[in-house]
Amino acid sequence: MAHIAVTGGAGFIGSNLVVALAEKGHKVTVVDDLSTGLLSNIDQNLCDFHEISLVDRVGLAKALGSAEFVFHLAARGSVPRSLKNPIATHDVNATGTLNVLEAARESGAHVIFSSSSSVYGRNGVLPKDETMWLAPMTPYAASKLAAEGYMQAYGSAYNVPITLLRFFNVFGPRQRPDHEYAAVLPKWIWKAMRNEPIEVFGDGSQTRDFTYVRTVLDVCMDVIDRRVTHEGAVNLAFGNRISLLETIEMMKKHFPNLDVKFVPTRAGDVKDSQNSPGLLKQLFPDVKPMEFEQALAETVNWLKEYGDTVANGPSVSD
Ligand SMILES: NC(=O)c1ccc[n+]([C@@H]2O[C@H](COP(=O)([O-])OP(=O)(O)OC[C@H]3O[C@@H](n4cnc5c(N)ncnc54)[C@H](O)[C@@H]3O)[C@@H](O)[C@H]2O)c1
Repeated sequence: MAHIAVTGGAGFIGSNLVVALAEKGHKVTVVDDLSTGLLSNIDQNLCDFHEISLVDRVGLAKALGSAEFVFHLAARGSVPRSLKNPIATHDVNATGTLNVLEAARESGAHVIFSSSSSVYGRNGVLPKDETMWLAPMTPYAASKLAAEGYMQAYGSAYNVPITLLRFFNVFGPRQRPDHEYAAVLPKWIWKAMRNEPIEVFGDGSQTRDFTYVRTVLDVCMDVIDRRVTHEGAVNLAFGNRISLLETIEMMKKHFPNLDVKFVPTRAGDVKDSQNSPGLLKQLFPDVKPMEFEQALAETVNWLKEYGDTVANGPSVSD
């Protein structure tokens, strides 16, 4: 069994990963500043928790200690939030990643990083593969691309083992539905549960390659089990292209009286997103995604049963 650190372990994906790692018997260390993550997501019987910010380079290195793997998931998420405060986004997402890599350079840890499909930005070609040009449209995307650059540089210059995953609209249990910057699916489900109208930015024809969190965990576990490294980015999505209007139709099966309100398009939103999963399948041949409609149903059921545990958390500041 390995010693594994998870930055952002109090957040949505991180807290799911901490449980999965602990269940396999790994020793888990969590680093999180609780800015969007929740203390209630952390079971301190399963992990050793350090409330520290990525920007505290010395404290961070100490907390990561001798971990053999570092899942680096902590970030200032959200495109609109980055438009309001680009410097804070850069400090956490780019410099914070550099701080993680500096710690790994000392300790020899393998770093697994969560980048984002938003790095493609203005590149409208679909589906996306890892050879295509990148053109960030927002400070969030630019900060992720900067972090990708540091990952690759530390891999090349210092032989830090790296796995650079680009996530595409991950959803599922424990994703916060309640704050201003919440992701679309939990936000909609939460509103529908309260019989409030859901808001669609634009005409709803925009598409997303939604990925269930369990699929992300399967890839992460495989990285550990087989020590999968790769010199470049790996897009983590299976090539679904589902429009928001199609998603609304599926939601109506759970919420027949769903009230939909169309509002103007939001700045920085990408119109379409779809991955070409060739490299993902080559590197992780055993990982099979869950079908979207079933994953959506599981997420609805989870929010109905446990939503209160992740809603009404601290507000997310700019
Ligand atoms: N959820 C998605 O659809 C998606 C898509 C693309 C990329 N990602 C990336 O995946 C990672 C995890 O995303 P998530 O959806 O679980 O987000 P999340 O907001 O739920 O989790 C992020 C965690 O990082 C912590 N954090 C933020 N700033 C920090 C700092 N300075 N120091 C320490 N901890 C800090 C937060 O408190 C939170 O617990 C992020 O890097 C995100 O950018 C997510």
